[in-house]
Amino acid sequence: MNRKDEHVSLAKAFHNKQKNEFDAVHLIHNALPQLATTDVDLSTTVAGFTLTSPFYINAITGGSEKTKKINRDLAIVARETDLMIATGSVSAALKDSSLADSYTVMREEYPEGKILANIGAGTSVEKAQEAIQLFHADALQIHLNAPQELVMPEGDRDFSNWLELIQEIQQTIAVPLIVKEVGFGMTRETIEQLAQIGVKTIDVSGRGGTSFTQIENARREKRELTYLADWGQSTVTSLLEAHEANATVDILASGGIRSAYDIFKALCLGAQAVGTSGTVLTHLMNHGVEETILLIKQWQEELRLLYTLVGARTTNELKYQSLIFAGAVKDWCEAREIS
Ligand code: FNR
Repeated sequence: MNRKDEHVSLAKAFHNKQKNEFDAVHLIHNALPQLATTDVDLSTTVAGFTLTSPFYINAITGGSEKTKKINRDLAIVARETDLMIATGSVSAALKDSSLADSYTVMREEYPEGKILANIGAGTSVEKAQEAIQLFHADALQIHLNAPQELVMPEGDRDFSNWLELIQEIQQTIAVPLIVKEVGFGMTRETIEQLAQIGVKTIDVSGRGGTSFTQIENARREKRELTYLADWGQSTVTSLLEAHEANATVDILASGGIRSAYDIFKALCLGAQAVGTSGTVLTHLMNHGVEETILLIKQWQEELRLLYTLVGARTTNELKYQSLIFAGAVKDWCEAREIS
């Protein structure tokens, strides 16, 4: 089976199998919210764009006939719900232009959309520019995926120049740059390193949902480093780390978003906006486009109710919620001296 097709079916097979630390985050009830649902404004800003919803469809796929159909469907879902959306890594199209339409289909379906092009961290400046030009991307996402590469026998082994390449791209491209993980999370130190080279928007994309060490291992008979199936920092601890970072950056969150409640918790933990991949993909594959549009609309409505519940008029106001942490999140805070 094509590698991209395999990723999609394995992501669906493993969906919701990881321990999810959003369950260890608790809010404190406020009996006097002093707000009406009609007062709530869900909008947020990401990389200079105003988004009507504080969540978006994060990088997933492209590069085959099957994934072209998925990208078309995802773009329709995004268009009908006014969401920002990212393609999966366009590296396949940069190597073989006959695969380009599996990505450009998103722009055809969603001409007015905020669509992000996605590339890997080892990509050259020239290829980064080609990726942006492919469908006039509104912004570029660069993904960091070292654990995934190491689990693949044919994967990259040299990560020694990632920061330099990212810096060169950051200084050259004319659209905003977002640097993201792919589900292994980040620390305050990583965020500070990225901020020092000029990166302004970072998606910490943590553990708790899709695991690419698990997925890559399931693709082959001879398995490597299987103990890395749950490697990395969770999205929750990555957001707590981001809060400690000495850096002026916008933080996005993704990894393990199952519901509007998880989006809400990520926003309360300081995310500017929240990305979802595995849950939307699985819902789309199981229930189709119409049902997925309904799911997104339901999340948008539920978020309005949740903002009201805690008395937050805007997405920015959510950042000041008091939270209580249990279990592994509490242990992480102690070990990393986060108060
Ligand atoms: C991904 N993800 C991803 N990320 C990226 O930057 N480039 C990519 O090409 C892909 N490909 C991809 C394929 C599939 C099938 C899935 C489910 C995910 C990672 C994604 O953007 C996100 O960072 C993680 O999946 C964590 O979020 P979820 O899936 O737990 O919501």
